[in-house]
Amino acid sequence: MQPPHLDAIRQSYDAVAADYARSVKDPAELDPLSRAVLAAFAELVTSADLGPTADVGCGPGKVTAYLSGLGVSAFGADLSPRMVELARAAHPDLRFDVGSMSALASGDGELGGILAYYSTHHLPPESLPGAFAEFHRTLAPGGHLLLVTRVGEGGHQRLTYGYGGDPAPFDSYRLPADRIAGLLEQAGFVVTGRVVQAPDEGAKRPVASFLAHKPAASDPLQQG
Ligand SMILES: C[S@@+](CC[C@H](N)C(=O)[O-])C[C@H]1O[C@@H](n2cnc3c(N)ncnc32)[C@H](O)[C@@H]1O
Repeated sequence: MQPPHLDAIRQSYDAVAADYARSVKDPAELDPLSRAVLAAFAELVTSADLGPTADVGCGPGKVTAYLSGLGVSAFGADLSPRMVELARAAHPDLRFDVGSMSALASGDGELGGILAYYSTHHLPPESLPGAFAEFHRTLAPGGHLLLVTRVGEGGHQRLTYGYGGDPAPFDSYRLPADRIAGLLEQAGFVVTGRVVQAPDEGAKRPVASFLAHKPAASDPLQQG
């Protein structure tokens, strides 16, 4: 049985999935800095070549497909079965699984990369260490993580979104960027880069992209 907060978020994304898929931008239409961050991540995981990259909370799979187009061996996982259906239909050449980022199906050290693109903010802050521990467990030593989320002092909000269709409730948590970076470090990651972008039109909070990696035994950043 899943925790109630996961059931609630799954139900809401199932309800809005088709409208979300219609309204969310293709990554090729994103601003240059957001695309540059994705390109940097793609280059890091393809050059390290340590295993496939999981797009956790992949939604309709647009970012998974974009990474694949950049040469990344990418697959998607999402809590919402409806999102996974839509992703499979739109990108039949790619793999998409139903799954929770707090209990990934991948084995220890199997992944070369993990992308969490606007998907971690639905977890209550007390559940983030568990998800980050899963990211760390499933990444190979030397593997890379890109986490992109809005940041700030927002705390908990109950939002109602419809993405152009019938609205559904979403619990959302905004944390300061330093707190997210600190939690990643506590999980064993080395945070190698952080890009903070001013709020875009209509948004209240900045977006932060955290590039991190799981240290390899010989990682120079781990040596005094
Ligand atoms: C705002 S959408 C982002 C989708 C996609 N990453 C994109 O950028 O288009 C958030 C997605 O995260 C998924 N999600 C939320 N919590 C999750 C969890 N704990 N495990 C896996 N997926 C989750 C939702 O079902 C939803 O599809």
